[in-house]
Amino acid sequence: MAIVIATIVSKLRGKKFNLPPGPIPVPIFGNWLQVGDDLNHRNLIDYAKKFGEILLLRMGQRNLVVVSSPDLAKEVLHTQGVEFGSRTRNVVFDIFTGKGQDMVFTVYGEHWRKMRRIMTVPFFTNKVVQQNRHGWEAEAAAVVEDVKKIPEAATNGIVLRRRLQLMMYNNMYRIMFDRRFESEDDPLFLKLKALNAERSRLSQSFEYNYGDFIPVLRPFLRGYLKVCKDVKERRLQLFKDYFIDERKRLASTKAMKNDVKCAMDHIHEAEEKGEINEDNVLYIVENINVAAIETTLWSIEWAIAELVNHPEIQKKVRDELDTVLGPGVPITEPDINRLPYLQAVMKEALRLRMAIPLLVPHMNLHDAKLGSYDIPAESKILVNAWWLANNPAHWKKPEEFRPDRFLEEESKVEANGNDFRYLPFGVGRRSCPGIILALPIICITLGHLVQNFELLPPPGQSKIDTTEKPGQFSLQILKHSTIVLKPRSL
Ligand code: HEM
Repeated sequence: MAIVIATIVSKLRGKKFNLPPGPIPVPIFGNWLQVGDDLNHRNLIDYAKKFGEILLLRMGQRNLVVVSSPDLAKEVLHTQGVEFGSRTRNVVFDIFTGKGQDMVFTVYGEHWRKMRRIMTVPFFTNKVVQQNRHGWEAEAAAVVEDVKKIPEAATNGIVLRRRLQLMMYNNMYRIMFDRRFESEDDPLFLKLKALNAERSRLSQSFEYNYGDFIPVLRPFLRGYLKVCKDVKERRLQLFKDYFIDERKRLASTKAMKNDVKCAMDHIHEAEEKGEINEDNVLYIVENINVAAIETTLWSIEWAIAELVNHPEIQKKVRDELDTVLGPGVPITEPDINRLPYLQAVMKEALRLRMAIPLLVPHMNLHDAKLGSYDIPAESKILVNAWWLANNPAHWKKPEEFRPDRFLEEESKVEANGNDFRYLPFGVGRRSCPGIILALPIICITLGHLVQNFELLPPPGQSKIDTTEKPGQFSLQILKHSTIVLKPRSL
C-alpha cells in the first residue's frame, strides 16, 4: 500500500500539479474519513462555501472535483465540453453497463457518438413526440379513470406514485416496443419493476464505496459484486426474452411490415446493418429503463408534492387549464404552449427538486486545466447543478416554491440550458437528449391530474413530507406519500 501511495504522490508531485483547494488528505483514505460517503448536493455546498467554487476531494485513490459556479459549469459542459465529456464509472457501474457498452456511461469518443446517433431517430425527435403523444395522453387519462374507481382515493387517500409508475413504464415501453402493461399486478411488469429497483438500489448505495475508493479492499466487495452481476444478468435476459426478441419476431410478420415503427424496429435495423451489436441493443434498453422512467417519475412525484403543499399554486394551474382549454376538456400535448403557468410549475419543480442534482458525473480522460487549476486525468467532475439553481446569490428567495419567478424575473430561462444557472438536464454534448420527451410527459400528467382532482394531504395532515432520500447522484422523495384525490364536480 505504501508503494502505491508513494507512486501516486510522486506522480502528482512530479508533474507539479497546481491542484484545486480542498481539505488536507490523509494517506490511503484521502479525505474519505473526513467527508464520509454521502456527497450529496447539500453537503457539497458546505465544502464549496469553505474551499471555493472549484474544489478537490480525494476519495481514497479517486480524485473528485466539485464545480459550483455558472462560469465553471460553462467551462466543463460547453467551452471544454470535449475535454470533460467522458464519464467515470465505478466497480458497480462497470458491471451494469458492461464496462461502458451503453451510451450514458461510456467515455466520450467513437462508441458514444455512434450510440447517440443511433438512438436519436428512434427516441429523441419531434416526430417521436407526435407519434407517441396520443399514447401519453391516453395513459394519463387511464390514471384518472383508475383513481376514480378507488373510493378510498377521495377519503383516506392512496399512494398515487404506484399508479404513476405503471404509467411511466407504459409511456416508455410504448415508445420502445409498442407494448403496455394492463395493471400494476401484471406479472411481467412486477418482475421488470423489481429488477430495475434492485439495479437502482445496488448502484445508488454507499455500501460499496470503500472497495471503489481503495482498490486493495476490493476483494471484500466480492459478495456485493456477485449480487450485482446476478441482477444484471437476470435483467438483461428479461429484456431480451420478453421484449427484444419478441419484437423482432413480431416485426418480421407480414401483418406488421406496414405498421408505424417503434424504437426497437429502428434499433434492429442498425443492428442488421452491423452498426451496433446485440449487446449494444441490450444496453440501449438498459439505459432507457434507468435514465428515462425513474427520472421522469421522480420529477412528477416532486411536482405533485409541491402542488399538494401549495394549494394556492394548484388552484392557479387549474384555473389556467379551465380558462385556456375550457372546463372538462382534457389537456393534449399541443396545448402545453398555451399554458405558461403549468410550464412554470414544472420548471420550478425541476429547479427546487432537481432529479439529478449533480448531473451524471463527467470525467476528463487526459490531464486538463479548469479555472486556474490543473485537473489530473480521470478525475470525476461533479457539477453541482442544484446549487447553481438554488444559490441565493443568483436567485431571488430560491428556497421558496414560486413558479411565478419563471414568468417574472426569470422569464427568459428555459430548461434546455440557455442559462448556466439552470441545468436540470445538463447542457452541451452529454446533456439529456430525453428532455424532448420528459417535458411534455410531465405537463400532460400534471395537467390531467389537476383538471380532474383536487390533490390534498391525507386527513389530519396539513402537508406531505418532502424529506429527500440520499443517493449517489439522485434526488428522490424519501416517502412515497399518501395523497387524497377528490374528484372535481364540473
Ligand atoms: C425529468 C426527467 C429527466 C431528467 C431530470 C434528466 C436529467 C438528465 C441529466 C442531468 C443528464 C446528464 C447531463 C450531463 O451529465 O451533463 C441526463 C443524461 C441522459 N438522459 Fe436524461 N433526464 C430525464 C429524462 C430522460 C428521458 C425521458 C430519457 C430518454 C428517453 C433520458 C435519457 C438520457 C440519456 C440517454 C442521457 C445520457 C446522455 C449522454 O451521456 O450522452 N433522460 N439526463
